[in-house]
Amino acid sequence: MRQILHLQTLPLAQRVSLKLSTWRDVYSTQQLTELVRESKNEWKSLLGLSNTSEVKVRVSCYKSKMMHTKGIETAVKRGLNVTYDDDGVEEKGEEDYLFILNNKRNKVTLSIDTSGKPLYDRGYRVAGDAGKSPLRPTVAAYMVDKMLERGRRRVGEEKEVNVLVDPFCGSGTICIEAGLLLRPMMLRKRNFAFQQWPGYNRGVEGSVKELLRKRGREQAFKIVGVDRDEGVVEAARRNAERAGVGDLMEFRQGVISDLTNEWGDKGMVLSNPPWGKRLVEGGREGKDLRNLYGRAGNVLRKEFGGWEMGMLTERKMWAQMNAKKTYGEECFIYGGVKPSFVWGKL
Ligand SMILES: C[S@@+](CC[C@H](N)C(=O)[O-])C[C@H]1O[C@@H](n2cnc3c(N)ncnc32)[C@H](O)[C@@H]1O
Repeated sequence: MRQILHLQTLPLAQRVSLKLSTWRDVYSTQQLTELVRESKNEWKSLLGLSNTSEVKVRVSCYKSKMMHTKGIETAVKRGLNVTYDDDGVEEKGEEDYLFILNNKRNKVTLSIDTSGKPLYDRGYRVAGDAGKSPLRPTVAAYMVDKMLERGRRRVGEEKEVNVLVDPFCGSGTICIEAGLLLRPMMLRKRNFAFQQWPGYNRGVEGSVKELLRKRGREQAFKIVGVDRDEGVVEAARRNAERAGVGDLMEFRQGVISDLTNEWGDKGMVLSNPPWGKRLVEGGREGKDLRNLYGRAGNVLRKEFGGWEMGMLTERKMWAQMNAKKTYGEECFIYGGVKPSFVWGKL
């Protein structure tokens, strides 16, 4: 339970599932129903599952004899002895339990979701305060963690990073996720599905609190977000307040060409600048974007030379235009495109 609670706060996790059973050589839905029926005695009371529970089963199949996902879903629900419809109509409403079944080459694994809402649904970014193209919080958390990890490796050395600047901050996601990594207790403000289970032991919360406190590093770290759009800057401030980290950061209105370095030589610039037509003034992609990245590169290298840099962009070439030197890159599959996260030095 302690580990499950802790895992919910790790960067990039979308949801945390707990493996309940694995069976090999499962070839029919009747066999599956029987297997679920037998195994549920081991975990039913931990979950508090009853005949009236609302259950959803998410099924994925790969190169198996059973490939009909609706049939598999019904077979699992029969085994669980909960209400089901076998007429192909999807249930509506919030389910009490989400089971996840993976059927790969006839090896079936049944897991239960412990998170509830996806973990990127942090709750701080409400409709109206999301900006034009908000970054998924878990992706932002991963980016910040990766950059801090690089900094942590140098703890004790003279050049430890102590400020993060996002010059294209939008609704503030990168800054807020940086704040949440420094103050991870705030991530626990929301409830997770498994905390409703009768087998959940509140006693674990104390030790996780301690672990999170250790993981946080509130000391002497400054976070600054800048964006040309005054409205979105105000939204970022509200989002940060809602996330419980507003006091750890500052948001300002400003354009990249006017950005100057007031923070010394030990920082990092971390951002996801605009990409795609709708984010460029006048709506022309291509030349406008190249100009924007070119201007950004000039300012960043002149003002922040020697700083760490991390950038998520649709084309890695654009990030490379900004850096003096790049150290690594990763590709995400995200929102229908494959942006690259590139990090290096300005
Ligand atoms: C992809 S969005 C950033 C989204 C942000 N990470 C979030 O989660 O909301 C890019 C942002 O860059 C801002 N922007 C565009 N051109 C700019 C410029 N010249 N100077 C500063 N900000 C600019 C836009 O207003 C937009 O909010």
